Amino acid sequence: MTFPARLQADAALVQARLDAALARQGDLPVVQAMRYAVQGGKRLRAFLVLESARLHGIAADAAVSAAAAVEALHAYSLVHDDLPCMDDDDLRRGLPTIHVKWDEATAVLAGDALQTLAFELLCDPALGAADRRLALVAGLARASGAEGMVLGQALDIAAETAPAPLTLDQITALQAGKTGALIAFSAEAGAILAGADTTPLRAYAHALGLAFQIADDILDVEGDEAAIGKRVGKDAEAGKATFVSLLGLEGAKIRARSLISEAEAALSPYGERASGLIAAARFVISRQS
Ligand code: IPE
Ligand code: IPE
Ligand code: MG
Ligand code: MG
Ligand code: MG
Repeated sequence: MTFPARLQADAALVQARLDAALARQGDLPVVQAMRYAVQGGKRLRAFLVLESARLHGIAADAAVSAAAAVEALHAYSLVHDDLPCMDDDDLRRGLPTIHVKWDEATAVLAGDALQTLAFELLCDPALGAADRRLALVAGLARASGAEGMVLGQALDIAAETAPAPLTLDQITALQAGKTGALIAFSAEAGAILAGADTTPLRAYAHALGLAFQIADDILDVEGDEAAIGKRVGKDAEAGKATFVSLLGLEGAKIRARSLISEAEAALSPYGERASGLIAAARFVISRQS
């Protein structure tokens, strides 16, 4: 199977899990907005969860709630990222953003409830023993909170009005938080589920997460709005600190490629079994959306 076909197959599993979780939550506008927010997307984080689980001999059925949890958390982060007080975006995954289609209060609340849904999904007994589920809960909380995604988002917003451009180390720290932490958790989740060593996957995911955000920043400059499903040219307009703003487009591309080589090298302990994760790494810097 090609990588896009594998990504799509895993996306369907995760969508079904999210649909099932949201089916019993009624039909208030906030729930409609949640359903809308979990549609679409590349589902790369879900793939990382399911593929790292397979790498440890865990079938998709026993990992899909964790993949759905990560995508719910990610969807929440996008809904809030798009709010007028954050990036003020009106287009996401090719559709109007939630605060545009509904209103700001609905967007805030839908994001809140997607976040709590993520932790409920991690409590699913199908994920195995309680200690493993607890480790997932703690891992996702750390990755998404004030030491992870929220920290990165706060640094990202603060950088818009910083008196001087950020240094390479500062931009690396910002991006490792805002994007890297959740991607790292996703790739480690399979090892956590199996009670195995997370070290090789952590090294892989650290490099992958940075490369992913660099590619996102490059697409903001070079991407096609219709293909990418979100507005382009927003980072420079808002004065965002990115690898592109610091290193230029070529420098950023070189950095992304070297990070992907690092990511692949980190998977050597797994040999051929890691081919899906290697394909994911290559996809991250070649993607057009
Ligand atoms: C976009 O993430 C936001 C970032 C963290 C850069 P994705 O590019 O994974 O968005 P979807 O899920 O495919 O829409
Ligand atoms: C968003 O980064 C990261 C999170 C939502 C945590 P960006 O602001 O660069 O993402 P896009 O470009 O709007 O998708
Ligand atoms: Mg942002
Ligand atoms: Mg944004
Ligand atoms: Mg971006």
